[in-house]
Amino acid sequence: MALDIEALRAEAQDLIKAAKDMDCLSQIRIRYLGRKGELTSLIKNIGHLPQEERPKFGERLNQLKLALTREIDEKQEAIKKLSAKTGTGLDLTLPGIRPERGRKHPLTQILEETYHIFTGLGFKIAEGPEIETDYYNFGALNFPDDHPARDMHDSFYLGTDNLLRTHTSPVQIRVMKSQPPPVRIIAPGKVYRRDADITHTPMFHQVEGLLVDNDVSFSDLKGVLTSFVHQMFGPDKRLRFRPSFFPFTEPSAEIDISCVMCMGKGCRVCSQSGWLEILGAGMVHPNVLNEVGYDPEQVTGFAFGAGVERIAMLKYGVDDIRLFFENDIRFLRQF
Ligand code: DAH
Repeated sequence: MALDIEALRAEAQDLIKAAKDMDCLSQIRIRYLGRKGELTSLIKNIGHLPQEERPKFGERLNQLKLALTREIDEKQEAIKKLSAKTGTGLDLTLPGIRPERGRKHPLTQILEETYHIFTGLGFKIAEGPEIETDYYNFGALNFPDDHPARDMHDSFYLGTDNLLRTHTSPVQIRVMKSQPPPVRIIAPGKVYRRDADITHTPMFHQVEGLLVDNDVSFSDLKGVLTSFVHQMFGPDKRLRFRPSFFPFTEPSAEIDISCVMCMGKGCRVCSQSGWLEILGAGMVHPNVLNEVGYDPEQVTGFAFGAGVERIAMLKYGVDDIRLFFENDIRFLRQF
């Protein structure tokens, strides 16, 4: 019997020492100290001993019980501390970790603001495919087959007839072909050109606008774009319409706003001109209206196209377009 006690002590102590987690420890506790545990059954067996041995044996058993209880408790504390340190433990008394707050990408913010402004002016949002045919990207938009304007677009071709769209203007054609006038849409989306430097990336975003109805005039275009610029950049901005050329509009214009940095006085950002180019626009070319089956004698329209990154750069004073795509969290956190 005396040997039994010592063997039991050694065995239990080894197990306690080796225990790696709380589960293990509580099994040990049950095995030795539980109601049907090994120590408990020794205590129950005391009755089989000769009368004179009982008190001594009982005392030794009691001491072992106390010792094992204490050792298991100590080991339990040690495991708790260790797992709190290594991060695997759950200590409900520690203060919580505040979840990081996400925010929208600056380009998403500009796009959403653009939707808000134009839906407020009665425009609906339209979409088109990013892989286009030569016909929608160029032909239907009145680009002659060998016109140099096609070169200016630095297209990514996929085979001979398909390409990644170089602008959102093909959405004009798709929308007009799918419905009779009147049309009043904006078409946001990704566009692709073989170009890369601090103001160009091979993929960027444009927002196209198209309004076709009876008696639409250039002054309607001016009114809509002025409202857009004032809402996007502030009512203090002036607009300048410069004659320009696009195959799908006639007349065509490029629109500048007074420089957001120097307010028109002239600075590095606006190359001392006081103006920043922000949009291309014009009256829809009669050839384009004919192409989609509209009667240019009955309806007229205006169209415009703007670069989303360019708007964001001017609005937030960002001087390198590539920052929008590097996803450096220190940059993105500022918006
Ligand atoms: N698609 C032109 C470009 O990518 C931008 C543009 C200019 C769109 C004039 C228009 C427009 O709708 O009327 O350079």
